[in-house]
Amino acid sequence: MAQLSKATLGRTGLDVTRLSYGAMEIRSEWAGNDDRPLTETQAETVLNALLDAGINFIDTADCYGRSEEYIGRFISHRRDEYYLASKCGCHPDHGQKGLGWVGKIWTKENVHRGVDDSLRRLKTDYLDVMQFHGATVEDCEQGAVIDALNEARDQGKVRWIGTSSALEHKPTFLEWGSFDVFQFGYSALDRTTENFITEAANAGTGMIIRGGVAQGEPGEGRGNADRWQQAFDEAKLDELREEGESRTAFILRFTLSHPHVHTTIVGTRNVDHLLENVRTAERGPLAPDVYTEAKRRLDAVGLIPAESLENV
Ligand SMILES: NC(=O)c1ccc[n+]([C@@H]2O[C@H](COP(=O)([O-])OP(=O)(O)OC[C@H]3O[C@@H](n4cnc5c(N)ncnc54)[C@H](OP(=O)(O)O)[C@@H]3O)[C@@H](O)[C@H]2O)c1
Repeated sequence: MAQLSKATLGRTGLDVTRLSYGAMEIRSEWAGNDDRPLTETQAETVLNALLDAGINFIDTADCYGRSEEYIGRFISHRRDEYYLASKCGCHPDHGQKGLGWVGKIWTKENVHRGVDDSLRRLKTDYLDVMQFHGATVEDCEQGAVIDALNEARDQGKVRWIGTSSALEHKPTFLEWGSFDVFQFGYSALDRTTENFITEAANAGTGMIIRGGVAQGEPGEGRGNADRWQQAFDEAKLDELREEGESRTAFILRFTLSHPHVHTTIVGTRNVDHLLENVRTAERGPLAPDVYTEAKRRLDAVGLIPAESLENV
């Protein structure tokens, strides 16, 4: 079996598989916002399957339903096989729980509570990465929450710190240099961040990319039918796919073709999809001429990178 390729996650030095796992899909009891129920056995199966396939990085969050609990229950005995990233900022008693704890409290106390609760649910002594879940520049300035994460780091509970925040805050965060990693979305269908990924990676920041399969083909994953049809039909990307290669696989290879995408946390609750993604990642990036042509065709239909994040 081919090996999954790895990359160094910026200044963290973590040697992560470029295909990794987004554990939001195993959230299960996310009442009212999850029309695809998941059994505990399915969660256990997919979590063990991803480790068996050699994936070594998992992203979760305090507010992803039972995701952290399942990771703790079903794979914490294999903790030395994976790097673990979670997110904090939510509070269980705050916000509308049915929508995934939308309410956030940006105080030092809540960050410390979040770290401790995640460690308990995940049945581990440390997180490799703890990220803010949507903090703004203002949240960080007013709540001294970066200090709280650094304290958790000093206590050995967290190794590296990051943020998954709206794009408009990232240039300031990059300027501050406080975060070791950034997480944000990127794919052929949303290239807004394409240049910023390069800029941030060149500054030593680890780049964790979500949406790397654009949520899968409509009918298979959660993909948005309009966007898929628009991109593939208008840009004629089907002409660039290899024989037998699914559209989702093409999108994943496009994401992996960006040299500064250190890892992409693809979500799935379906082992067949997981194994397809592994086989796709093992084939590696698109051939250079195909990648160039795909970008040219996407440019032509207006799916282009933002020139400057000031404008997004
Ligand atoms: N603000 C934040 O910090 C934030 C927000 C959103 C997500 N995230 C993180 O990012 C991760 C991924 O996010 P995402 O869900 O937006 O993007 P994604 O990984 O692009 O999409 C996941 C969807 O793609 C489908 N899929 C995966 N592989 C497939 C395949 N081979 N064929 C067809 N469909 C496939 C899955 O459906 P099946 O289950 O049917 O395979 C799933 O519904 C999450 O799990 C979470 O860890 C973070």
